[in-house]
Amino acid sequence: MPTGRVLQLGFLASHRGTNLQAILDACKTGRLQARPRVIISNNSDSGALQRAREASVPAVHLSTYTHPEPGALDGAILAILQAYGVEVVCLAGYMKRLGARTLAAYRGRVLNIHPSLLPKFGGRGFYGEVVHRAVLAAGERETGATVHLVDEEYDHGQVLDQIQVPVEPGDSVETLSARVLQQEHRLYVRTLQRIASGEIELQEL
Ligand code: GRF
Repeated sequence: MPTGRVLQLGFLASHRGTNLQAILDACKTGRLQARPRVIISNNSDSGALQRAREASVPAVHLSTYTHPEPGALDGAILAILQAYGVEVVCLAGYMKRLGARTLAAYRGRVLNIHPSLLPKFGGRGFYGEVVHRAVLAAGERETGATVHLVDEEYDHGQVLDQIQVPVEPGDSVETLSARVLQQEHRLYVRTLQRIASGEIELQEL
């Protein structure tokens, strides 16, 4: 990918959307050379769609409710991403599996953020508080966050970037997840800027 380009970003998010917000803010201030083109959510009440509307970015609700026929949702998501000229797809707390067609069309260009140092504390069932509870139960002194490429398996694709976060004595799931989330916001923006600058090269579209 040539350097110095403005990355065209698409997002899929299910809930509050704080990672999305961090990226929107960085695009706005110019810290990140990227343009948010569209935000898709399976949840019509999500904070993510609300944040999109507040930032005047197209917000689209697509789910098995809007597209009940098998395969139709995958096709609809792909059509929207392509219609908006999305080059890199960011999953930001998207609680659904991406369909095969979308994954094939954007192979090597779909990113996800996970709140642990993968491959530790990742895979099926490791999401939300479960991750931080497992980190505490294992007595880890350090945890963190990972941005990785998405493939067919949960939390499995190539790691692009990671950030370390200390586990402090007396941490609860709440204090630890808040500390990690803050760093997730930094990490996602940093990784995308590394892609925009050409430091991290993704597969061609
Ligand atoms: C984050 O912890 C992220 O790592 C995980 O889902 C959570 C999304 O949070 N994949 P938010 O919606 O960005 O606030």
